[in-house]
Amino acid sequence: MTVSDLELRPLTASFFPAALRFVHRAFGEEFGGWQVETERPLFEPDRSLGAYLGDDLVGTTWIQSLRVEVPGGPRPVAGVTGVSVSPVYRRRGVLSALMDRQLADIHERGREALAALWASEATIYGRFGYGLAAPIAAVRGERAHLRFLTPPDDQVRLRLVEEAGADPAVAARLTPVHAAAARPGSVVRDDRRWGVVLADPPGDRKGASPLATVIAEAADGTAEGYVLYRVETRRGATGPDGVVRIREFVATTVRARVALWRHVATLDLTATFEWYGLAADDPLFHLVSDPRRLAFTLSDGLFVRVIDVARAVTERTYRGSAAATVELVDAACPWNAGRWRFDVGPDGASCTRTTDAADLTLSARELGAAYLGGPTLRTLALAGRVDERRSGAVDALSDAFAGPLAPACFEVF
Ligand SMILES: CC(C)(COP(=O)(O)OP(=O)(O)OC[C@H]1O[C@@H](n2cnc3c(N)ncnc32)[C@H](O)[C@@H]1OP(=O)(O)O)[C@@H](O)C(=O)NCCC(=O)NCCS
Repeated sequence: MTVSDLELRPLTASFFPAALRFVHRAFGEEFGGWQVETERPLFEPDRSLGAYLGDDLVGTTWIQSLRVEVPGGPRPVAGVTGVSVSPVYRRRGVLSALMDRQLADIHERGREALAALWASEATIYGRFGYGLAAPIAAVRGERAHLRFLTPPDDQVRLRLVEEAGADPAVAARLTPVHAAAARPGSVVRDDRRWGVVLADPPGDRKGASPLATVIAEAADGTAEGYVLYRVETRRGATGPDGVVRIREFVATTVRARVALWRHVATLDLTATFEWYGLAADDPLFHLVSDPRRLAFTLSDGLFVRVIDVARAVTERTYRGSAAATVELVDAACPWNAGRWRFDVGPDGASCTRTTDAADLTLSARELGAAYLGGPTLRTLALAGRVDERRSGAVDALSDAFAGPLAPACFEVF
């Protein structure tokens, strides 16, 4: 097989169950069929691609048309997902062919200036211009050793909701909390996505309990935070050894955050709580007296790809002002490559082609990484990934791009 033998064409809606089976095989995961109902509402056939050799499917990818928070508010983002290549056709260029076509398709459609994805392995997508924009942390807290530094507020009441997915009123209550806690990188959650998050199909539980939804309410009933979790019961040699598996934790006030963490960390018959989904600067680290006991581990999370540099630079806001000529290296999206004049500030931004000498050189991967205001251009330069040609250019642009809070994405799509 050579890449020229491949035909790339959309997957049909009726083929979606077979496509999901294909993806699960590539990931080495069990396909139970129930995933079809969970995922189907988010499938957009006209934004999908199958790589075929004759009638044989050898690779897939598709896009979810998302809205994602960037500095300044939510913007359209192409959410790349369903990326898989048949185990018997790997490392022969199928993914590369799919990525090239997909990037061109996003550019031509013109809906989004950005694409984003979660990577099964962080080494896969840098070559296609995706940069790690929102690192995500995991914790494994030990109940017996956790002491909270901030006292509880008895004005907060916790309400336990069963089968939250069956009652649309629950999603309606949680929506403003989720929106108020959004950071750059957060996916705007519409009704379809709430349906997926709260659906709780038995096949998704992996031996743990049905999903618990606990809402932290003010005295007047206003929701200020919530946590979604399952409990996996275990019995160790010396007693109960259960694990609280957090699916999502959101708080918009200190008192709700404290109440919900105290709840999670004191559940009977459990010894630990686990969550992969914290921002790099999550306040939990500072809420406990012994943060080492959280086993806080930073890892990769959301990757961002700038599809259209001029539009992306002007679509977000900036806290500081800076002007610099940027030489952008972008082999996968050649329409972005070349020199651009960035002129950004609190009152607006422009990004235009120029023939001036470059103040700094970077690739699409670095621009994507810095775009949400997280890993700064300064940090990337210290890692040798930004080449400064005019002294001070990196610091100036770095400060303008940086944000007050680390970006984070709590939604794996
Ligand atoms: C990851 C996957 C999609 C790669 O597909 P593929 O068709 O083998 O990739 P390609 O042959 O186009 O590889 C392109 C380049 O990426 C590299 N690459 C591919 N997969 C890689 C991986 N997992 N880790 C590191 N590099 C990888 C290749 O070595 C190649 O590099 P080169 O151009 O320097 O030779 C495929 O192996 C797969 O389906 N894996 C299991 C499911 C999965 O992880 N999907 C990704 C979901 S985010």
